[in-house]
Amino acid sequence: MREDLHKHGSGNLARLVMVSNRLLAPRERVSRAGGLATALREALQRRGGLWFGWSGEVVESPSASARIAEAGNTTYATLDLSPEDYDTYYVGYANSTLWPLCHYRLGLIEFRRAAFHGYQRVNANFAKALLPLLRPDDVVWVHDYHLIPLGAELRKLGVTNRIGFFLHIPFPAKEVFLALPDHLALARALTNYDLIGFQTRNDVEAFLSYLRDETGARIFPSGQFEALGRTTQARALPIGIDTEGFAEIARVAASAPETTRLTRSLGGRSLVIGVDRLDYSKGLPRKIEALGELLEHWSEHRGKVAYLQISPSSRDSVAQYRALRREIDSVAGRVNGRYAEFDWAPVRYLNKGFSRGTLAGFYRVARVGFVTPLRDGMNLVAKEYVAAQDPENPGVLILSRFAGAAGELKTALLVNPFDLDSLADALHRGLTMPLSERITRWEPMFDALRMNPVGVWCDRFLTALTGDAKERSGFSSVLHSAAVV
Ligand code: F6P
Repeated sequence: MREDLHKHGSGNLARLVMVSNRLLAPRERVSRAGGLATALREALQRRGGLWFGWSGEVVESPSASARIAEAGNTTYATLDLSPEDYDTYYVGYANSTLWPLCHYRLGLIEFRRAAFHGYQRVNANFAKALLPLLRPDDVVWVHDYHLIPLGAELRKLGVTNRIGFFLHIPFPAKEVFLALPDHLALARALTNYDLIGFQTRNDVEAFLSYLRDETGARIFPSGQFEALGRTTQARALPIGIDTEGFAEIARVAASAPETTRLTRSLGGRSLVIGVDRLDYSKGLPRKIEALGELLEHWSEHRGKVAYLQISPSSRDSVAQYRALRREIDSVAGRVNGRYAEFDWAPVRYLNKGFSRGTLAGFYRVARVGFVTPLRDGMNLVAKEYVAAQDPENPGVLILSRFAGAAGELKTALLVNPFDLDSLADALHRGLTMPLSERITRWEPMFDALRMNPVGVWCDRFLTALTGDAKERSGFSSVLHSAAVV
């Protein structure tokens, strides 16, 4: 097996080993796995390597060693979870403790010690299964909150490779992080990585201020720090999308059958689009209520606007997600019940996913992209909406100031997602904005996305991790396609 895996190294470059809880299967088109897996697939497709993670399957007696599959230049190595691991690690600690914590929802946190033990056990099992697949010069890149302890577990097994970690979700302010009984254990685990990447400066500062105040860490201006007996570095490296690639997909999709059907169904009405996993961090009920407020206060929009909210269900095994689904059903029903006419309904709420190609076409015809999470690490939908626009007639992005993407997409209509009135104001403003202002706002956003596509994000992370400019050459093709600035 080791020999097979060796053949995927590209030139002199170290092989890249990506580790994430969720993988995107080689031919999976409708991404139930979220933007993270799509971004990782794009990064891996360019360079090749090994992608290791959960298979998505829960079985009574999972094998301790990974199942291997090959597709193109990528080797997929996956593990199943037992029902107990699924309950404690995935449903429990990852999604009922860390997720609400990092999204500032202390009231939703459930903390059970058994869940923390399950989380540690699964991370230890992942490390044991990954170990025999590793070669000495591999660069290992671990992703997201499910796998914070993985680096430390690999170190315990004697792995000396460069290991980096990227947190795709927010790192909470110190006072919030302290609510986690295991805050110190997680911070200690993070210091085992050679690089800890965050989406924004804000996240880095929150992490470093926790370390400084709680552990007496010494922080250097470069982002290097000494804490808990180790020296390592934290950096803000916002994730991007395949900007030019997605723009091209959207251009082609503009005349695809689904887009044509959607446009026909609008009958000349303006489209507002929202695409979010059905998650309480996305602020979905208030988005739908905001449309009701718009119709209440600006009656000229009645019969003239359609709000398409696409929200595939997510984490149904977590009770809060099931409750949220019921709440959205009820809000959507209420707004439609109040404002719909026999030949028009303001809200089209779809509880299913679409392929990225189909979404690209939908984004392109939408006059407004409505992206108002209460808290979000980055939000790649916002970036895809911008990339998908027609440069001659772009739509308007309404974006939460609490999404990481707001740091780059500064000329969006930035809103406070807790403020219903300002959401309705922004919808009105977006729907009535003249073309010249739409172009003036869109151009700098598109330029920002071209400066930092997903390949450049990978390149920056790996260069910072390995300290080796040679790593850049692995993405030279990406850099060229991204260098159109
Ligand atoms: O982007 C954040 C994230 O939690 C990813 O880590 C995850 O894969 C994705 O959202 C979808 O969530 P889940 O894997 O729980 O379906």
